[in-house]
Formats: sequence, structure tokens, C-alpha cells
Amino acid sequence: MSIDPLAYRTQAVFDRELAGPFAERFYAGADPDFPEVDCYKSFLIGPKVVTVRRTSEGLRAFGNVCLHRSNIIDPLGAGKRQFRCGFHGWSYDSNGDLSNVPFSDIECVKSISLPKYHVSQSSGLVFVGVADAPRLDKISTAIERIGLNIGVPFFKKSIVHECNWKVLVENILENYHLNFVHRETFLKSGFTSGSTHDWESDEYVNLGSITPKAETSKLATIRRLAKNATHCYRHAYVFPNLFLSNTNDLIGFISYMHPLGPLRTVLNWELFELPVMTALPNAVKEHIRDEAVQFADQTLAEDKAMVEACQMGISSDTPSMQLQPIEGRVIQFHEYYNERMSNA
Ligand SMILES: [Fe+2]
Repeated sequence: MSIDPLAYRTQAVFDRELAGPFAERFYAGADPDFPEVDCYKSFLIGPKVVTVRRTSEGLRAFGNVCLHRSNIIDPLGAGKRQFRCGFHGWSYDSNGDLSNVPFSDIECVKSISLPKYHVSQSSGLVFVGVADAPRLDKISTAIERIGLNIGVPFFKKSIVHECNWKVLVENILENYHLNFVHRETFLKSGFTSGSTHDWESDEYVNLGSITPKAETSKLATIRRLAKNATHCYRHAYVFPNLFLSNTNDLIGFISYMHPLGPLRTVLNWELFELPVMTALPNAVKEHIRDEAVQFADQTLAEDKAMVEACQMGISSDTPSMQLQPIEGRVIQFHEYYNERMSNA
């Protein structure tokens, strides 16, 4: 059964999604985002403002609202800074406890500890769990299956989509639309709606691959640049907010959603080199990198127009959803979502 159209635009459902699936396993970043002590990433999980920081004791996640006057301590985004509020200098230690309160009367400080959240890692990926440790038991197999080796990004960008997060998931999980939406990108690269696609799922992980048929394969062209490359696109979706992909064993891609409201979703995306590419001469790498950035940027712009138009239709008085067998991954997503939300 498909997801109820009301779930794509109702604040009450959105609030339940944040308090349920998103609070249980929220992808926050990868190892290279936290190279040194005081590197942080700060973001919203619904009404919670969370910061994940590298401390002298390892990665920690805290509520990011100052105990003094509720200023946000680490500005939203990423960076490296002392854990100190910019408003009046209240500082926190690696346990989230107040360590310095300048010019104060200590009698007026009753609350001394920030909320703490669970932070766990698997295969170089970092996740937050608000109430309990996030379940990550299927992540390392998924990463292995798609041949990913998480590296330092050579490009990062964020795009705001005026649509519900689930419309983005549905778009990313099927290649049916390649012939129609991506004529200038995927199609020219040999990936078509008719390419061989395989997929499998295991609860919160959904894996897929696209292999061009012989007549559209660009393998010979790709191998002229990189002899160990493949011509295959492998993808993993980790419910609810993370997407990973491997293109031709050359380019790794991470994208993750920050849902801001029922009709507003930020998609952050990053590209990094895979080992086959790292071994290539610099001039070739530069060429492949430039092409990958241009390809991803254009593809995501093409998708943005489509998903925002779909959201208008879903929000209309005549929404419709007739999923086809070629969209098996979307059907699995709907089933898993409905099951999760029935207990959330
Ligand atoms: Fe697309």
C-alpha cells in the first residue's frame, strides 16, 4: 500500500517522523568532517538543535542551546571552534558541562549540563540517536556491497527543495525517469530507463544498481581514462536521511537530507574519489572531478524541478500514485515507511 498523500504535507505527520525515524538514526556526517578536536557539525532534528563535536574523548553529540539565554552555541553548519557561546562566553567541556561562566554570580546558575545524545559510527559514517544508540548493524555490509570507501570530499553543495523529504527519496530510488528527466546527463552517460537494474533491501537499507546494456555501454571509453574502472552505478539508501553511491568505481557520492518542514527539505551532497581514481595521474583526476561535479549539479537541478512539481500534484485535491514493478525500490520504501510509522 502506498503512503497516504496527507503524509506529504501534514505538520502532525512530519512531527511524528522527526520524533520517530529521524530521532532514531540521523546521519550527521562522515569521519573526514571531524578531523580534529573542536571540529563540529550543527543541525536541526525537528525542534532539537544538535551539535556533533570531536572532543578529546571522541565524538560526542549535545543539545546546542546555551544554558544562559538560549543562543545557539555552535552556529548551524560545520566548522572548528571552541565549545563556547558567542553571546556571553559561557563555555562547555567534552562532557557538555559548563566549564567557564565569565562575570557571573554562580548562585544564579542552576542548570549546568547540556542534553546529551547518542553518537555511533559505522564504516566511517556518523549517526546520532536522540533517545537510544542508533541501530547501525546493516551499514557496513551495505557499504561493502556498493564498493564504497569513504574519502575526503573534493566538492560539497546544499540545495533547498520545496517538497516533502519522501518525494526526494522516491525520486532517488528509481531509474524509470532517466529517459525523460535526464536526457542530458544519465542518458548521455549510458544509463537509461531500460538499463539492467538490480535491487535488494533489508529493513532500513535499500540497495540498487544500474548496469548499462551492451548497446549503451561506455565501458571502452571509460577504460581509456582508467583501466580498472567499471560502468556501473551502485546505490544505497539508509532510512531515513542518507544516500550513498558509487559511479564506475571512480566517484563516491554522499547526500543526506535535513527536513526543515513538511514542504521544505535541504539536500546536502558531496563527492569524493574512490581508490581506482586516486591511483590515476593528476590531469586525468582533474578531468573526472570536473565532469563529476558538473554531472551531479545538473542531474540534481533536473530532479529538483520534477520533485517540486510532483509535490504540487500530491498537495492538490487529486493526488495519484500507481507504482510500477520497475519502481520496486519505491514500493519497498513505502512498505517500510508505513510499517515504521504505524509504530511511531
Ligand atoms: Fe533523477
